Amino acid sequence: MLEGKRILIGITGGIAAYKAAEVVSRLRKLRAEVHVIMTESAARFISPVTLQSLSGNPVHLDLYAEPRFGTVEHIALADLAEALIIAPATANCLAKIAVGLADDFLSTIVLATKAPLWVAPAMNHVMYHNPVTQENLVRLRERCVRIIGPAAGFQACGTEGDGRMSEPEVIVDEVVRYFTRPALLKGKNAIVTAGGTQEPIDPVRYLTNRSSGRMGYAIAEALQEAGAETILVSAPTALSAPPGVERVPVTTALEMYAAVMERFPDADIVIKAAAVADYRPATAADHKIKKDGTDSNLTLELVPNPDILAELGRKKKPGQVLVGFAAETEHLIQHATEKMRRKKVDMFVANDVTKPGAGFGSPTNIVSFLFPDGRRVDLPQLTKLEVARRLVLEIEAMLGLEVKE
Ligand code: PMT
Repeated sequence: MLEGKRILIGITGGIAAYKAAEVVSRLRKLRAEVHVIMTESAARFISPVTLQSLSGNPVHLDLYAEPRFGTVEHIALADLAEALIIAPATANCLAKIAVGLADDFLSTIVLATKAPLWVAPAMNHVMYHNPVTQENLVRLRERCVRIIGPAAGFQACGTEGDGRMSEPEVIVDEVVRYFTRPALLKGKNAIVTAGGTQEPIDPVRYLTNRSSGRMGYAIAEALQEAGAETILVSAPTALSAPPGVERVPVTTALEMYAAVMERFPDADIVIKAAAVADYRPATAADHKIKKDGTDSNLTLELVPNPDILAELGRKKKPGQVLVGFAAETEHLIQHATEKMRRKKVDMFVANDVTKPGAGFGSPTNIVSFLFPDGRRVDLPQLTKLEVARRLVLEIEAMLGLEVKE
């Protein structure tokens, strides 16, 4: 399945390093060309000789060793890689990648390669939940690093919790999926909207909401993975667009409206994950609004923004797939179903944004897919990328593009 794919396996120093041997072995059985890079601490947990035998290639440990591969070995390896998987990835390794440190063979390769990067975190559960580790993981996700796991269970330190490295088959499955996923949406044009629009009050203030853009960016990534030409119409966020996705930056709902409407005639798929402001200030002051020296109230007059999704629903031609999102705080299914019917869309993704692990800002989401024929799919808590991939499968099915067995 992975015939000739050039895969680098980075191993860092944790007890789960012994499981990396199985990752390497499985990848070799799938006929991948595997090159192993170990940190010094990893070599204390598992012998490089084991990895050399399993991979069939010399193991890279020392940045200053005599090069066996190209003249500048770490750059040559970084260039040839089609995938880089770090398993296990210790808290220290995640921190180094998050800030861009490059002080050994593995960390220099991380900076030097353009190949997609997967990390499989493995550490004590308190270390995993430490806010610093969590912040580092957020940074990595935002840079499109794919994070596998960790799993929960018994830990080598004698405690129970999450922080165990995902099993080798889970790690290998992720990589196989990446290389073998059929590009069913090849030739299709997709538009995704993401983020929270900003509605100016004056030159320094605006009205907005808590959307981070993560859900929409994950959808763009999943559509791109599935082969669609993807345009991401994005309100301001701190995220960078997934590789291969065209980003159209907008600020206000009116700008988003114009950007989406202009591109809609050529679109096969539109997914509206953005949190669009329903209202904007009637006028934006030319200068910063000053206190008038009294304690009197200030009243802002708000006027409605166009409902982009509803207008797309009215203009939709046969064959175009339109998906809306509903961010609700009560009566999730009832309110989302009403919106779906009113806006005439093909599918609604309903999320109760009051649930921990769902909605605004969170790396995960808990959603239900709703369809006009009354069908409903409730998903468990999943990462936003996993939700996005499930959503893409539904879209492929709507377009009659499912994989035939
Ligand atoms: O960005 P994240 O931090 O990852 O958070 C994700 C999310 C919570 C923003 C996302 O999952 C989500 O629920 N997005 C839709 C938020 C929203 O605005 O919901 P709504 O119920 O107000 O709007 C319903 C639908 O109409 C949405 O598809 C919205 O894009 C669309 N809409 C709303 C108003 C408007 N003027 N024009 C629109 O197109």
